[in-house]
Amino acid sequence: MKDKLEAIRRKAEAELAELKEQSQLENFRIAVLGKKGELTSILKMMGSLSPEERPVMGQMANDVRTFIEEKLQEKAKEIKEREMQKEIESVPLFDVSAPANLDRGSYHPITLVQRQCEAVFKSMGFTIENYSEIVTDYECFEALNIPKHHPARDMQDTYYLENGQLLKSHTSAAQNAIYRKYRDSLVNDGLPIKAIFPGRCFRNEATDACHENTFFQMEGVMVDKNISISNLIYFMKTMLSEVFQKDIKVRLRPGFFPFVEPGFELDISCLICGGDGCPSCKHSGWLELCPCGMIHPEVLKAGGIDPEEYTGFAFGLGLTRLAMMKYGVKDIRDLNSGSLKSLAQFTDDE
Ligand code: DAH
Repeated sequence: MKDKLEAIRRKAEAELAELKEQSQLENFRIAVLGKKGELTSILKMMGSLSPEERPVMGQMANDVRTFIEEKLQEKAKEIKEREMQKEIESVPLFDVSAPANLDRGSYHPITLVQRQCEAVFKSMGFTIENYSEIVTDYECFEALNIPKHHPARDMQDTYYLENGQLLKSHTSAAQNAIYRKYRDSLVNDGLPIKAIFPGRCFRNEATDACHENTFFQMEGVMVDKNISISNLIYFMKTMLSEVFQKDIKVRLRPGFFPFVEPGFELDISCLICGGDGCPSCKHSGWLELCPCGMIHPEVLKAGGIDPEEYTGFAFGLGLTRLAMMKYGVKDIRDLNSGSLKSLAQFTDDE
């Protein structure tokens, strides 16, 4: 039996050395190690051995099996590497003398909607402000009537720098600076403050198809004497109808934000069904788009403006959300992916 085992080992080794393809390996395994394989049939003869011989032969049979299995694995690896090498060699070499690919790239969907919004607001007399991505706790929260330990901070956890500054969690963080910048011309010259400020925002957020730790908003404010909710509705409706190139209906629902009073959620008529109800709007006919409201007196005061004399509205438009709606982007992560292939398909028309 010893000789037979040794013979199987040697034969297997020699046969394996000849094999060249993955499919041959499986046939070999079945023929040698399978239920009816050569090694297995030898093991069936163990019953005829003496009790002293049995453990010795058992051990030897095991060693042969391990040996063959190891060789088989080595061979599989070798064949795989050879196939990979073949595939690599089959790819034509890069030809440096070939003419350059002159694809000109395309604007990012968020840049596109941002520019469209800017153009519409500019035509309505709004200035476009650029504001820092790094702000103070005062700008991001305190000046917006969100004191330390206010529960509204929970939803806006962000990234903090060692010096106590933070990456802004919303574009509202620029409100205070804008009021201060234009307060003198408002009070002395009677010019209304009309400004929009688009920007990148950050939140300490677990990402999924609808959440990202980096996204874009566009804040807008208008402050003057006698500004009311009707002004807010008018500007929002005009801007959205321009961006979507169709008549958009809007409605306001109450919403809570510490820096506006009253605060609202602004919904627009569903872009897919026009308001009749469909799966996209969960059959309500409406899509939630933009929180907004009348600027809280404390926020005006923090910006150096007397709330007894002036009122204003503010809104925080989710540019990322708007881009997703307009271009039918289903997964927010596509937008930050940097994948030109994903992004170009939304913007071919521009
Ligand atoms: N800053 C808020 C956020 O990101 C959104 C917002 C709500 C902005 C109401 C506003 C507003 O200007 O009036 O959650």
